[in-house]
Amino acid sequence: MSAEAASTTGDPLVLRSDVDASDTPEQLLAARYGRAWSDQALPWNEVIATLLSHRSVRAYLPKALPDGTLETLVAAAQSASSSSNLQTWSVIAVTDPARKDRLATLAADQDAVREAPLLLVWLADLSRLQRLGDARDRAVEGLAYLELLFVAIIDAALAAQNALVAAESLGLGGVYIGAMRNRPAEVAAELGLPPQVFAVFGLCIGYPDPARQSGVKPRLGQNVVLHRERYVVPARDEVADYDETMEAFQREQAMGPIPWSERVLQRVAGAGSLSGRDQMRAILEALGFGLR
Ligand SMILES: Cc1cc2nc3c(=O)[nH]c(=O)nc-3n(C[C@H](O)[C@H](O)[C@H](O)COP(=O)(O)O)c2cc1C
Repeated sequence: MSAEAASTTGDPLVLRSDVDASDTPEQLLAARYGRAWSDQALPWNEVIATLLSHRSVRAYLPKALPDGTLETLVAAAQSASSSSNLQTWSVIAVTDPARKDRLATLAADQDAVREAPLLLVWLADLSRLQRLGDARDRAVEGLAYLELLFVAIIDAALAAQNALVAAESLGLGGVYIGAMRNRPAEVAAELGLPPQVFAVFGLCIGYPDPARQSGVKPRLGQNVVLHRERYVVPARDEVADYDETMEAFQREQAMGPIPWSERVLQRVAGAGSLSGRDQMRAILEALGFGLR
């Protein structure tokens, strides 16, 4: 793909955001960037169409998942790469409405958690290797280093994303719940987590309620995120185009018109904008992580 072809600086039309995987590559790419894609044809298949039609789903039909869905999603998750094949993650499937309700309350009171028939809580789990070392009377001091927590969080995230893509390919939808990190100690108590296990995020899964869906949300242009060979610090305001794109998307979706740049600046303004997660180091230490 040439640099020109990769840029998405066409007209900010927001052509149609209510696309799905059966739409054409041009429609899906236009929705993903909120602008007409160049006329270059890209390699394409059903997997890519599923990926490009992703949107977070926060409203679900009251419909149970077919038998075997959980096991399929976990098999997809376990098919993700794993750093040194350490497999330092676990997942808790929560379907009990009372437990989902308590977890929803802990996670910024999000109704998606209550509504979804399945909540998957993805765990960075160093406890398994700790138990292995203990059982074999072997040193596992490496677990006490920040690097191993990175490994576990990265593994958990890759696994979860595989599960979400698998779910979407089955006609299900989902949304990550990062707010599961707002009150990690209480989440750990609710889920009975042993030391050295941390709930990285939740993932709600269910059948999308078609009456309450949002469109495919545009992303920054490839000319902003894609560097070739070496990083190029842009000379101009690189997000101005995206503010315009998102404004058009928000208008289409009847959402509050807050410019993206303003929203993200508020989100990173200071410790107070981190929903309690500014205490993460102390919390992780209390949960048994070394962070050396
Ligand atoms: C790690 C992570 C945590 C997230 N946490 C939440 C959350 O707590 N609540 C929520 O409604 N959406 C959450 N999201 C969804 C994002 O808001 C969403 O992915 C983003 O706005 C892009 O929209 P899209 O997924 O529809 O493309 C989270 C996404 C990620 C990747």
